[in-house]
Amino acid sequence: MERDKFSSKFGVIAAAAGSAIGLGNIWKFPYITGKNGGAAFIFVYLICIILVGTVVMVSELSLGRRAQANSSGAFKKLKPSSKWYYTGYLAVATSFIILATYSIIAGWVLSYFCSSITGKLTTIAPDNLASYFETLTGNTPMVLFFSLLVIIITAFIVISGVQNGIEKYSKILMPILFVTLIILIIRSVTLDGAEKGLEFLFKPDFSQLTAQSVLEALGHSFYSLSLGMGVIITYGSYIKKEENLASLSLKVIAADTIVALMAGVVIFPAVFAYGFEPGAGPSLIFITLPAVFQGMPFGSFFESLFFLLVGIAAITSTISLLEVSVSFLTEEFHMDRKKAAIFLSAGVFLLSIPAILSFGAWSGVKIFGLSIFDLFDYISSYIFLPIGGILTSIFVGWVWGTKNAFKEISNDGLYSFKGYKFYNIIIKYIAPIAIFMILLYSTNIIKL
Ligand code: PHE
Repeated sequence: MERDKFSSKFGVIAAAAGSAIGLGNIWKFPYITGKNGGAAFIFVYLICIILVGTVVMVSELSLGRRAQANSSGAFKKLKPSSKWYYTGYLAVATSFIILATYSIIAGWVLSYFCSSITGKLTTIAPDNLASYFETLTGNTPMVLFFSLLVIIITAFIVISGVQNGIEKYSKILMPILFVTLIILIIRSVTLDGAEKGLEFLFKPDFSQLTAQSVLEALGHSFYSLSLGMGVIITYGSYIKKEENLASLSLKVIAADTIVALMAGVVIFPAVFAYGFEPGAGPSLIFITLPAVFQGMPFGSFFESLFFLLVGIAAITSTISLLEVSVSFLTEEFHMDRKKAAIFLSAGVFLLSIPAILSFGAWSGVKIFGLSIFDLFDYISSYIFLPIGGILTSIFVGWVWGTKNAFKEISNDGLYSFKGYKFYNIIIKYIAPIAIFMILLYSTNIIKL
């Protein structure tokens, strides 16, 4: 049977950018930028993306396309009778656990979206927004409902297939996301006092920068580009032979970075204009922003748009996370697509239950000092993801080999691509070492 494929270049870019653009861009990037002093952090982040992100992304795409297989099958095909395919198992585990925590936050977002369209959110006094957020996250049945909704929407799209599901919906949702962002930017930068927010974002103060922020920037660049967990390998396997992988990667990376910056331009000018703190952390979009919208004319309209935007960004990422394990089960274990998606979604939902409870009845349960939610997040994003990234770079750099990778990237020399030396050094040495540093740092083996 022919493998299902993305039908057009725009479809590939929409799907891959849809995966990359997510809560990481709109929720996490602005708050870690806020915490790390603004523009100087962005500068370092850009360097990480350009040096390491592009190289690893194009490598993952080439692995998938050459092998024409899922994230584990790809390693098996390119290095038969070796144990490398376990890297794919790790990727499946990582994407599965990330999906469990991701769908919880996406569930909060959907709930905020509903309360903003009904106007409920605007009736809450700014001082009570923090307790509103806490009450919501602690309301287990409600969060179960909204995360299940996220999982059902995700499963529905994935079941419809690569071309008729993932590609089709990404092609509709991504343009909506861009238009919404632009409307919100216009609103935000025309507020009185918006300049301070722009200055915070774009005028670097390098004194705020620490070694820790550098590792945080590098770690975030991986997460934001959906690298190290099989997503890009899997999507790569759906790309047609004639497409130019290097130019596709650059477009996806540019879109991801531009959206992260645009999200900053939506959030910070508004935060400064209304005199709030930029370094509020994870609660920035759930507590600070609703207060900001309350002070704005037509605030609840813009608020609904904002949460719609975040919801869309999240769903186009959850579908890519689910696709990793669905393609794994359908290809490695010959399961039917629909069955695999339903089975896996049920598994993700079950896994998310203890994480949801850890904001409510089980908030006292701590494992290694972490709540269950934080533990899942820590294991997947801070341990498994970097290990997956290191193994993938080593595989491409040393095992499959940069010559083979380069052949695939250049379509057997059809596209001239001058960066071979640069590519070779980064994938063989810089990427694995840099990611290893993130791993040491995030597991507290080195302290900065
Ligand atoms: N890149 C997504 C984001 O920035 C998160 C994600 C990670 C999605 C890994 C898929 C796979 O939100």
